[in-house]
Amino acid sequence: MKEQLDQMLDQGRSALLAAATVAALQEVRVRFLGKKGELTALMKGMKDLSAEQRPVLGALANRVKEDLEALFDERLEQVREMELEQRLASERLDVTLPGRRLVAGTKHPVTLVIEELIEIFSALGFGVAEGPEVEKDFYNFEALNMPKDHPARDMQDTFYINDDVVLRTHTSPVQIRTMLKQAPPVRVIAPGTVYRRDSDLTHTPMFHQVEGFLVDKGITFGDLKGVLTAFLTQVFGKNVKVRFRPSFFPFTEPSAEVDIQCVMCRGGGCRVCKSSGWLEILGSGMIDPEVFKAVDYDSSIYSGFAFGMGIERIAMLKYGVNDLRLFFENDLRFLRQF
Ligand code: PHE
Repeated sequence: MKEQLDQMLDQGRSALLAAATVAALQEVRVRFLGKKGELTALMKGMKDLSAEQRPVLGALANRVKEDLEALFDERLEQVREMELEQRLASERLDVTLPGRRLVAGTKHPVTLVIEELIEIFSALGFGVAEGPEVEKDFYNFEALNMPKDHPARDMQDTFYINDDVVLRTHTSPVQIRTMLKQAPPVRVIAPGTVYRRDSDLTHTPMFHQVEGFLVDKGITFGDLKGVLTAFLTQVFGKNVKVRFRPSFFPFTEPSAEVDIQCVMCRGGGCRVCKSSGWLEILGSGMIDPEVFKAVDYDSSIYSGFAFGMGIERIAMLKYGVNDLRLFFENDLRFLRQF
């Protein structure tokens, strides 16, 4: 029995030393020292011993128990510490690493130009109006002096939703909607998206325009020239040369297209201005009495002018962008430059 006890001490020791986790240690303890453990089992044989042997072996058994318990406590502390270190190592966090920054977005160049135009025209007393992009034929054409079959409708390749509804081909229908709602005087600009069946290097089926119009008593072509010149010098610099060229729109009479001297070659002639030295910037004119008739304005009392321009075109000239498609590809390398 003494031998068995010595053996048990040896086995218990090596098992405790080998256990690498708290759970494994507990298991060893139960196996040797538990109520149904090996030591308890061995002690059951005590009753068969002689009266002299019994206390000797009893003391020995106690020492085995104490030794193993002491080693168990020691190992428990070691293993706990090891486990803690392992956990700390695996959860290690370098608080000195730089954080992940949220990159602030930038405004789209089309948005920037629209905001700039709103600011300039607000200073001139213009308010901002909006209208639907899916528009009735009446507002997009009819009321703008373009009855069905009017040849001028061919100027604009239209997306038809049905016979009576179109994707608006320009922002001019906002003129009609505004004047139907509001008696003169009116001073409004209307930025927005427009659609035409047109797609090549310099045309996209969707683009943006800003419309503007002013109606009051005694408005003349001189007011049109003054307002548009003031506006263009604010956008392109006070030295920009502006030219008014006779043109035609069904809803204005007389009509004029407005050019600025080419911002790329300063009038010398280049690829951008197709060697003409001038860039067409907007369409304009005095609002046709036929339009006033459609919105029930008295053209013997009131007169006014209107203009419309393409935003992408202005953005291209202002920021020196040479490819229209860049505005719609949403390439961040392009957009972040603004
Ligand atoms: N609506 C015209 C176009 O899209 C531009 C324009 C607006 C012309 C207002 C005159 C007056 O081409």
